[in-house]
Amino acid sequence: MERMTKTIALLPGDGIGPEVIFAAASLLEDCGTEFGHRFELVEFPLGGAAIDRCGTPLPPETLEGCLAADAILLGAVGGPRWDALPLDKRPESALLGLRKKLDLYANLRPICLHESLSTISPLKLERTRKIDFEIVRELAGGLYFGTHRMESENGVERAFDDITYSTAEVERVARFAFARAEARSKRLTSVDKANILATSVLWRKTVERLAADYPEVSVQHLYVDNAAMQLVLAPEQFDVILTSNMFGDILSDGAAALTGSIGLIPSMSWGFGPPLFEPIHGSAPTLVGQDRACPIGAILCTSMMLRQAFGLSAEAEWIESAVDHVLARGYRTPDIADVNSSVVGCSEFVALVRAEMQASVKQQEPYGWGV
Ligand code: IPM
Ligand code: MG
Repeated sequence: MERMTKTIALLPGDGIGPEVIFAAASLLEDCGTEFGHRFELVEFPLGGAAIDRCGTPLPPETLEGCLAADAILLGAVGGPRWDALPLDKRPESALLGLRKKLDLYANLRPICLHESLSTISPLKLERTRKIDFEIVRELAGGLYFGTHRMESENGVERAFDDITYSTAEVERVARFAFARAEARSKRLTSVDKANILATSVLWRKTVERLAADYPEVSVQHLYVDNAAMQLVLAPEQFDVILTSNMFGDILSDGAAALTGSIGLIPSMSWGFGPPLFEPIHGSAPTLVGQDRACPIGAILCTSMMLRQAFGLSAEAEWIESAVDHVLARGYRTPDIADVNSSVVGCSEFVALVRAEMQASVKQQEPYGWGV
């Protein structure tokens, strides 16, 4: 078994970001110790924290550190403290800057209902049985990266946001989604608004053309309004959903809620630069400093990193099965608690997961994890 040396850039960011990222980082360290890998964790400021420290949301040292890393683990950015800043100076602009500069064009968000959490989904139980799909969101183009501007004429204000997609931009993210579908249940749903938007007409045409290269994958196209409805009515129909930057942002929060809490969902941003892993929950300013944040999204980012970026499946499973066990024993952070749960804070949940990891090592010995 190969021992690896990897540099991981840690960008804790704002709000509950630092809390969940340092928790997740401790699991990576455990993993390095247990499996003999060297994970060098190097921290950089980003977002509001970087504005406060360096006067800019994406300092050059952060960008350089990310470019030099093998993978990036990011918490969240933003908060009321910086809300009054102009769009291009806000913490969120750092996130967009990173995505663009690293050309991270495909964002993968796995939406999977955990068995022991099936009762906390807002859906009726018979609907929750098979929620297990992935959203592939285009991340480096579309409405997010068009020109945003305001003008004022005779006292009338008007705002503009351009949306553009080139064939090549659609093609690269679509190929990523086709490949994901090929490795899963071979069903791809492409979501657009081709009855209204020119970019969506191009999107649909491109996906239809590429389908010939993936004969095993069945493709359906849905308009985004219909897709939003289908997610609530029959989420079990989905395997891989491919969609644009803006639609993916909206649909993925809705989809995450089906699993019980947005705090549970990790994500991977993939492209030409080092892959970036980030829980999708955001900075959650109202939870800061209360030890109430759900660390599961961030923890699952570490297992996603180990598996997808480094090819370390046994290590990823070690972490995931520890999370499964802790949940199965009834421990929950407040966002995922029900009447039968033992409610614990973020730090205790992480301590339980780490203890579970160590306990499972003891059970496995003397054979270890196949290392
Ligand atoms: C996400 C977030 C970001 C986005 C914000 C924080 C800029 O909502 O990653 O989904 O809109 O992309
Ligand atoms: Mg979002």
